[in-house]
Formats: sequence, structure tokens, C-alpha cells
Amino acid sequence: MNPAPPISVASLACRGVTFSYAPNTQPVLNEVSAEFPAGTITAVVGPNGAGKSTLLRALLGLVRPQRGEATWPEPTPGQNVADMPAGVRAGRLVYIPQRLSPAFGFTVRELVEMGRHAAGAGPDSGAIARAMEHARVGELAARSFDELSVGQQQRVGLARALAQLDAIEGPAALLADEPAAAMDPLEATHALTTLLSVARAGRAVVVVLHDLSQVLAFCERSLLLDARGRVAAMGPTPEVLTPRALESLLGLPFDPASVGGRVVTLVARVRAGGTESAP
Ligand SMILES: Nc1ncnc2c1ncn2[C@@H]1O[C@H](COP(=O)(O)OP(=O)(O)OP(=O)(O)O)[C@@H](O)[C@H]1O
Ligand SMILES: [Mg+2]
Repeated sequence: MNPAPPISVASLACRGVTFSYAPNTQPVLNEVSAEFPAGTITAVVGPNGAGKSTLLRALLGLVRPQRGEATWPEPTPGQNVADMPAGVRAGRLVYIPQRLSPAFGFTVRELVEMGRHAAGAGPDSGAIARAMEHARVGELAARSFDELSVGQQQRVGLARALAQLDAIEGPAALLADEPAAAMDPLEATHALTTLLSVARAGRAVVVVLHDLSQVLAFCERSLLLDARGRVAAMGPTPEVLTPRALESLLGLPFDPASVGGRVVTLVARVRAGGTESAP
């Protein structure tokens, strides 16, 4: 992996974002400030319910924080994404949601074409074919999305995102919510390698991941979100993803596992019937 590029001004960012789904309830996001530089993949890691998906929705302008804001650097620096019309956002911010909705019989090719339309671009069969090939769904093109396996459906989500990104000429960010969670190790590796090449093409990439080996292999920066929706740490992954930080975040002891002197994953110390620290 190349060293992380310096923080660029062309970053998706959020400042002091506090968000609750309902009045008088505990905030799901608590004073979250973060920067997601162009050209970099940033992992978002945290326990179930920490607010990772909600953070992505706030960065996409799909929910409006009660305090603070998510910002995009153009056309006006510090532009509040929640104030950008949906069509303008779709020409800059690309989303792979955690759960893809039922597609009412649309084929894979039709769904991938929708990515292009979202970015305001006209039909281009070459671009659609390229996106499907990169996401390894070419053979599924004529199949109905609803009939695919979950891992195959996730590849379609990636293909649609690639088609949308391909149609965006200026700065863009890709926000992917557990995009490979149902994929087998080979497909997950392909998908994350593709996200890395999206970052290397100058896009900001934000990806929610639970698999720590994937975070270590693909993400130069990490944001740890704790159970109360606060930033527990943010920075270069090797500095942030430590056994101590993970134990505090996830409530389990972790051991680093190295290959050739490089930490490739962190292994939770569990045993059948509970954790090591259980009575
Ligand atoms: N639409 C909603 N309305 C009300 N509460 C919600 C809604 N979506 C999420 N929540 C709540 O907000 C909190 C954060 O949810 P979120 O989906 O952001 O967590 P997450 O970190 O993505 O979890 P996971 O790892 O399970 O995907 C949870 O307590 C959840 O119950
Ligand atoms: Mg989630």
C-alpha cells in the first residue's frame, strides 16, 4: 500500500455533527468532526448501532444534523451538503447502502444504468459494460436483481456506483456501507481493490467495515466510532487500529497477527461459551 497522501483541501468533511432520529432521544452521532481526503480510503469502524450508517447518511445529506454540518469543497468551499439539491449531490457523492432495496424486477444492467442517470449522464453502453466488468457482474447483466444471492447483489451495488462515478468529471466521493460484508474472500478482495483504485483516481472513499484484516490491507486512514456515536480516534490506520483501542471500542481483548513482520489482522480472543474475561 502506498503511503497516505497529505490531507487535501478537496475533502469531504464534517464538523461537530450531532444527530438524533427523534426529539428528546440520545443522539446517535455526538459532535463528530472528521475529514475524508480526496485520494484516500478511510475506514469507519465501530460496534453495531454506533452510528456508522447514520454518519454516512449525514455525509451524503440524507439526514440533516441538529448541530454541525457535513461539507463539500465545491462549488463553494465548505458547502453544506444538506443544502445541496439532490440532483447536485448525486453528481458528486456516490452511495453504496448497507442494504440494497428490492428492485421490482429490474435487471442488473438496468440498475447499473441508473447509476449513470443519477449523475445526470446519458446512455453509454461502453461505460455500463466497463462498470459491470470491473464489479464482476458482466455475466449477470440480464438477470433480475431480486433473484441474485446477497453477495452478487453487493457486486451490483458496486457496479452501479462505478457507473455513477465514471459519469462524474469533477471531484467526487464514494461512501460504501459494508460493501463486501456478504462477499466471499475472493470477491471481497476484488471489491476492495476496486475501491482502492477509485481512491487512487483521486476520489475520496469512505468505507464502513467490520473485517479488521480488510481495514489493515486497504484503508490508509481509519475513524473509530464508539457506541455513543463519538469519534474515539481518527488517523493513519496503523496508529489507530491498536489492540488497546479495539478492546475499548468493542469490549473484547485483541491480539495482533503478523505475517512477515507486518500486522495483517487483529484477532479477538474468544472461546466457545464467551470471551476470555467471562467468568
Ligand atoms: N431510521 C431510523 N430511525 C430511528 N432510529 C434509527 C434509524 N436508523 C438507525 N437508527 C438507530 O440509530 C442507531 C445507529 O444506527 P446505525 O444504523 O447508524 O448503526 P451502525 O453503526 O451502522 O450499525 P451496524 O454495524 O449494525 O450497521 C441505532 O441505535 C439504530 O437503532
Ligand atoms: Mg450500519
